[in-house]
Amino acid sequence: MCGIVGIVGQEPVAGRLVDALRRLEYRGYDSAGVATIHDGRLDRRRAGGKLFNLEKKLDEEPLPGIIGIAHTRWATHGVPNVTNAHPHFVDGVAVVHNGIIENFSELKDELVSDGAVFESQTDTEVVAHLLAKYRREGMSQRQAMLAMLNRVSGAYALVVIFQDDPNTIMAARFGPPLAIGHGRGEMFLGSDAIALAPFTTEITYLVDGDCAIMTRNGVEIIDYDGKPLVRKSQISQAAAFMVDKGNHRHFMEKEIYEQPEIISHALGHYIDFASHTVKPNQSDIDFGAVSGLAISACGTAYLSGLVGKYWFERYARLPVEIDVASEFRYRELPLSPSQAALFISQSGETADTLASLRYCKEQGLKIGAVVNVKESTIARESDAIFPILAGPEIGVASTKAFTCQLAVLAALAIGAGRARGTVTAADEKAMVKHLAEMPRIMSRVLNEIQPQIEALSRELSRFKDVLYLGRGTSYPLALEGALKLKEISYIHAEGYAAGELKHGPIALIDEYMPVIVIAPHDRFFEKTISNMQEVAARGGKIIFITDEAGAAASKLPTMATITLPNVDEIISPMIYSLPIQLLAYHTAVFMGTDVDQPRNLAKSVTVE
Ligand code: AGP
Repeated sequence: MCGIVGIVGQEPVAGRLVDALRRLEYRGYDSAGVATIHDGRLDRRRAGGKLFNLEKKLDEEPLPGIIGIAHTRWATHGVPNVTNAHPHFVDGVAVVHNGIIENFSELKDELVSDGAVFESQTDTEVVAHLLAKYRREGMSQRQAMLAMLNRVSGAYALVVIFQDDPNTIMAARFGPPLAIGHGRGEMFLGSDAIALAPFTTEITYLVDGDCAIMTRNGVEIIDYDGKPLVRKSQISQAAAFMVDKGNHRHFMEKEIYEQPEIISHALGHYIDFASHTVKPNQSDIDFGAVSGLAISACGTAYLSGLVGKYWFERYARLPVEIDVASEFRYRELPLSPSQAALFISQSGETADTLASLRYCKEQGLKIGAVVNVKESTIARESDAIFPILAGPEIGVASTKAFTCQLAVLAALAIGAGRARGTVTAADEKAMVKHLAEMPRIMSRVLNEIQPQIEALSRELSRFKDVLYLGRGTSYPLALEGALKLKEISYIHAEGYAAGELKHGPIALIDEYMPVIVIAPHDRFFEKTISNMQEVAARGGKIIFITDEAGAAASKLPTMATITLPNVDEIISPMIYSLPIQLLAYHTAVFMGTDVDQPRNLAKSVTVE
């Protein structure tokens, strides 16, 4: 996902733009660039790779100017190189873009037949050519901007400066987010409030279909017909969160270790630690009245939803239809307004999840958002927001957001069970007590298992393939463990329902593919032990993640046994997340990969 910043100010902007881009590095990128206007002249510096390379170029060739735009690019159209890096220039127009211009090839054909010469392979460049064309035809900057916006289609956050107007930055949003920062005698633009935190906390979020005309004295927001719009500003919390690594090597390590503190903060929003009850659900979703739930999300967020499915079905007796958002949105699932829909998203900006939300909204369902960013698009388009309060998650691989999503879903499922009379007050008290004890147990586990996991990860980093197995709510954890390992260590890993081993994957078992078995001593334990016997009988190497009771009960030889405390099943998914997160983290560290910004990945995928 690309990062965008812009400043129209009173002092040189190039350095501040790069600093702001640094706060967007977590979004993932492969090139970067800055453009400014100085003495009536538009100029730019661009570089492949990390921001360091751009800074070096700016040191060698400083870029003066008190108005500018900058961009970190995560390649969608065109390889990641300097030619394709933003900003794109055409005849005194500079453009940066996050998203996809879906009709770019038809526009490009039209422009080329009109004599336009393209230098890049990007979809973005058509925007610069369109604007330049309209300006040549005599349109004002504003007219050209609106004409362009009425031609392009797709998902985009666009920011534009014109060489002959050194006092104005124009922007438009249709999909990927854009925030306006209000300064004193200067104004800012960014992909999110984190980028703008050093400049201001007063933020106005653009909404789909907004066009912003920003000068150092303020911002005018209009629709694509030029009609004025009113958007309220708000004070952003982004600055309040320390966005640094503390004494950790990576953001991911910091975020793994801050889970006990973070999750107790998140729980406090949903449970009463004194009475061990779930706080009354004040949202617009009445779980007592709905006939069923639809849940949709992507990646790790989908996997927390998959755990939630087990809980809503078991405790609240609510049938749950769940699918990854990229499938859900095209299935045309028959749904009824008597159902509710939950969308889980750390960023709140994932395009597929947002599209699934809009599908359910059209079907008349009540929409709930389990999100980490309360000002995000998914949150804003929902009837009910269930914040996970995990604070900014910078590591691309989701860790604390996952366990906070689980904690919130557990509280919602228990509350739904109370509302539907399927969970007694005594059961509620018992389960909420386990939730309340969870942060302390997480702290203990993180400290106890760290040395063993680090040693084990050194061994694991030698393998090319890994299989994860689990049953019940440990099955989504097997999928999550595989996702974590593959996305940051680049080792191929697959998660499977343990009961499915015999239906295919058992053909893979040999000494070259460790099998990580996630099995608390719960009602599935014996069945999973027999799966482990099948693996051991074929020379498979087992990494057994279990609890004290499980370790005592199993006599099977293993490559390693990671023993966790005996915990209640309502919190085992959160507790068992810790070893799978640490295993992936330390293995990636041994592999020497870019743990916080793994190759090809973005923190939030705001395009299809
Ligand atoms: C998780 O480790 C991944 N980075 C990715 O799968 C992520 O969970 C997914 O893209 C969904 O993002 P969201 O939660 O912001 O919607």
